[in-house]
Amino acid sequence: MTAPLIECQNYINGQWVAASGETLESRNPSDWRDVVATFPRSSAADVDAAVAAARKAFKSWRLVPAPARAEIIYRVGELLLQHKEKLAQLISREMGKPLTEARGDVQEGIDCALYMAGEGRRMFGQTTPSEMPNKFAMTMRIPVGVCALITPWNFPVAIPCWKAFPALICGNTVILKPAEDTPTCVHYLSQLFHKAGLPNGVVNIVHGLGEETGRALVEHPDVNLVSFTGSSETGAEVGSVCGRTHKRSCLEMGGKNAQIVMADADLQLALDGAVWGAFGTSGQRCTATSRLILHRDIKEEFTNLLLERVHQLRLGLGTDPQTEVGPLINSAQLQRVNHYLEIARAEGTKVLTGGETANTENLAHGFFFQPTVLDRVTPEMRVAKEEIFGPVVGLIEVGSFEEAIAILNNTPYGLSSSVYTRDVNLAFQAMRDIEAGITYINGPTIGAEVHLPFGGMKQTGNGHREVGTAALDVFTEWKTVYVDYSGSLQRAQIDNRD
Ligand code: UN1
Repeated sequence: MTAPLIECQNYINGQWVAASGETLESRNPSDWRDVVATFPRSSAADVDAAVAAARKAFKSWRLVPAPARAEIIYRVGELLLQHKEKLAQLISREMGKPLTEARGDVQEGIDCALYMAGEGRRMFGQTTPSEMPNKFAMTMRIPVGVCALITPWNFPVAIPCWKAFPALICGNTVILKPAEDTPTCVHYLSQLFHKAGLPNGVVNIVHGLGEETGRALVEHPDVNLVSFTGSSETGAEVGSVCGRTHKRSCLEMGGKNAQIVMADADLQLALDGAVWGAFGTSGQRCTATSRLILHRDIKEEFTNLLLERVHQLRLGLGTDPQTEVGPLINSAQLQRVNHYLEIARAEGTKVLTGGETANTENLAHGFFFQPTVLDRVTPEMRVAKEEIFGPVVGLIEVGSFEEAIAILNNTPYGLSSSVYTRDVNLAFQAMRDIEAGITYINGPTIGAEVHLPFGGMKQTGNGHREVGTAALDVFTEWKTVYVDYSGSLQRAQIDNRD
């Protein structure tokens, strides 16, 4: 652990600027002794400077043709590809996810750049006949303005890209506020934005604490839109400030995703899906599988197979190529997962494996939790309804498909879902009846692709979707245009009636 200390700075108006106040530290969650970087604890004044730069840059950026804007983002995608390995190593060190997953995180950013760059040459509006003669009617997309993008630590490269690329291609300018656990990944990204040739002020980055820097950004009167991914508690706060200050908001919050395994399912396939869905990224995805709803005819067999697989999972440092499950992000998360285990025990579940902090040998300096399987979970328990965000999965037994769907839907969230069955009729009923933004048939709850809409129903979101063409609806306003070329006043609804 001898890598040199990185000094992250705010990136404002095309320049890296030293912090005006205190600096904070970002540390490696696999080994807390490893200080990855320092970063500024930005104040409201730093936020003001970033917003002013973004506002100024908006004047000219909105007039750059969208295909030209998109070419710069394409270049960011090419740079991400060139830097993929270095960035992946940094993600593993700063965030803790295993290297294979970290490479996937960067790849998701690359995919997003290439896909969104194509939108620069589409971004279609509509034309439609007017009800009046010699009159033309159409719609076009125009940018919203200055956008605040508040991003989480679990996908420290992919999610900033999900938000920034469509925002920029649509002609907005942005201020990115990365999570305080992973500032360095976004600092690295700022260098690629700069290298790709984005004009000054089009992308700005302010580091700091959510409660201070994030809050100042959300409350700022000159911000037009806030796109936030994070906890439901913070999202509710962001949403209410945006409501009060009339800002557009796109909120992506919690999940309590379930995988149903029916009696006719290919059990090995369902098992692969369950292990990846529940323990990938140590369960720290909003799409993670945290409930397995198992048909009683296969429950025992499936549970035994699952335990065999979970016992083989290699817990280790994110940067160790052998690692399959990395640490949790910080001590607060570790405490939270431990607290949910206390709740689980008090509610009467049975811990089949795991259930404890893992701190033996090389894990002693990190925030590791054993991959955990809880049995005898019933739908009304807190551990069946609340998001844990750790490597913990609860088993729920059901007797029918209808019961499985009802239990799957029995949470305040509705992000991702999965059904394993070979019965095509059940698969189609699941697609229709599951209350979630994403449903997988014979695939795990994680692994969304960037050209399709991403987001959830109920308390997971506020009706918006990220990436895909849906992102254009977040980052543009519809302008409706009528062109009357009749040369006389034509009163709609009146002059064309007897
Ligand atoms: C998240 O956890 O916030 O579908 C995003 C997936 C990833 C994205 C997860 N592509 O699991």
